[in-house]
Amino acid sequence: MTTVPAEEADETADGATTLRKVLPAFPPGPALPARGLLRLPGVYRPQADTCLLASAVRRARVPAGARALDLCTGTGVLAIALARAGAEAVLAVDLSRRALLSARVNAALRGLPVRVRRGGLLAAADEGPYDVVVTNPPYVPMPAEQARPDRRCDAGTDGRAVLDPLCEVAPALVAPGGFLLLVQSVMSGVDRSVRLLTAAGLRARVVARAMVPFGPVLSGRKDFLEQSGFVAPQVRKEELVVLRADR
Ligand SMILES: C[S@@+](CC[C@H](N)C(=O)[O-])C[C@H]1O[C@@H](n2cnc3c(N)ncnc32)[C@H](O)[C@@H]1O
Repeated sequence: MTTVPAEEADETADGATTLRKVLPAFPPGPALPARGLLRLPGVYRPQADTCLLASAVRRARVPAGARALDLCTGTGVLAIALARAGAEAVLAVDLSRRALLSARVNAALRGLPVRVRRGGLLAAADEGPYDVVVTNPPYVPMPAEQARPDRRCDAGTDGRAVLDPLCEVAPALVAPGGFLLLVQSVMSGVDRSVRLLTAAGLRARVVARAMVPFGPVLSGRKDFLEQSGFVAPQVRKEELVVLRADR
């Protein structure tokens, strides 16, 4: 069987969009962050989870002059939201080179103070702590027999491969007086995230919720999700939540 590297795979028709094609028509300026975004092939398309977190960022009142982190940045849409909300300097971190190139171009064309860095939690912690941290990490449970995880969304058989270390390292990311906004599915254990964040010394609570229909990834593994007890039989919606954790 031929496997397609996650960075080259894409679920959408416009996955063929290239830097060369997009740049001339790219509209900088005060558009909503998700409009006119460059998204190189294989980079996560902003979805309901992105939107839920972006509106939580807008409501959270980012302090003017804040140092901010967008961990798992993808196109950089949330880094852009942070900069527009008042952050003075935003670091956008991702494992994917294509994501970082997309994020760098998207922020630069809007003239926003976003810097990118390749890596994961350690790279993010290396430059921390930050006044504001936002993250939309991979959190989808995947079948054990799946040959290769899609790094954009897959997070081990329980959906917590990134969430657990992220919650544990949160004190190294969030400065005293600062806060973290994290989006995840109820399927991957909101109580566990709250417990881990609390054990790490932060005050954590749910600040936003939304029910959204299954997209292509969840629809494609509905049998696994049902059999493993992540969703009730015939349920084809998932609940997303945004957690806020204050230090
Ligand atoms: C669900 S997407 C979110 C993208 C974007 N923030 C958004 O909301 O549209 C998750 C992103 O995290 C990246 N990623 C996966 N595992 C990571 C890790 N351990 N550290 C940093 N980035 C990671 C993926 O490459 C992907 O771009």
